[in-house]
Amino acid sequence: MSAYSEAPASKVTVPFIQRHKVRIDGLKPLTMVTAYDAPSARVVDESGAEMILVGDSLAMVVLGYKDTLSVTTDDMAYHTAAVRRTEPKALVVSDLPWMSYHVSVEDTLNNAAKLIRAGAEAVKLEGGSKRVHMVEALVEAEIPVQGHIGLTPQSVKVMGGFLVQGRTEEAAQTLLLDAKRLESAGAFSLVLEGVPDVVAKLVTEQLDIPTIGIGAGPSTDGQVLVFHDLLGYGFGRIPKFVRKYSEFASQGIDAVTQFVADVRSGEFPSQAESYTDTKGLLASWSERNGQADFEQPYLVG
Ligand code: KIV
Repeated sequence: MSAYSEAPASKVTVPFIQRHKVRIDGLKPLTMVTAYDAPSARVVDESGAEMILVGDSLAMVVLGYKDTLSVTTDDMAYHTAAVRRTEPKALVVSDLPWMSYHVSVEDTLNNAAKLIRAGAEAVKLEGGSKRVHMVEALVEAEIPVQGHIGLTPQSVKVMGGFLVQGRTEEAAQTLLLDAKRLESAGAFSLVLEGVPDVVAKLVTEQLDIPTIGIGAGPSTDGQVLVFHDLLGYGFGRIPKFVRKYSEFASQGIDAVTQFVADVRSGEFPSQAESYTDTKGLLASWSERNGQADFEQPYLVG
């Protein structure tokens, strides 16, 4: 149990998430945070969040790309495995990257299987009605699916940027229809990204599966944020919907700058940070090698 939070008492499962409707049950909202490696997974799991998302935001916040289109299924599997090796209580959801579920059902199933074998407990994919047959095929193959509609970053070129969606009556209706279709296809939850709060509220009220919002206001059944955004560990533009809970990047720069200064001034390393107990090695080394000038044996003490 985490010292800091109301951590889940046991392993979080897909049915646990699927049943979690704040409106119906008066439950507290779900939380999901992205993680991409073992340390970030440990931090998120310690927080008590119910879900870790190995998001394809990996491309932007870890790998330095301008959008999410460059990551592959192999990249996602590699990072999923690192997250899962920490054996988190949180449910591990992994993003199917762009073009991994667009070509054929066979391709989709093979790519999703790669993520599941790497340690994912569910996959997430972007898009509404267009993706319903892929969702059905995945669910049929016993792979839990989380939907993702609204601002779908994999569609950045079609949307013309990372722009808020569902702002007109027609767009909001399409969003609602997409949400209902994904639910009928078997999705166990749905991420709503970058939509007006009233639209997110309407969709949330009309679904039996939980909605997880990001830039979608307070009425969804849960909230998700990107690890680097909420820690202030990013270097790009921070969207309006992000709340920074720390200034990790600037604290990191301060720390590393201090290290560089300490090395240059001779302040680091100190005696306490050095191995000084030779345990007789120096004497025996000198005896065997006849070298009396060997002063700093290493890997001792
Ligand atoms: O990849 C990601 O981090 C995501 C979240 C923004 C929901 O999909």
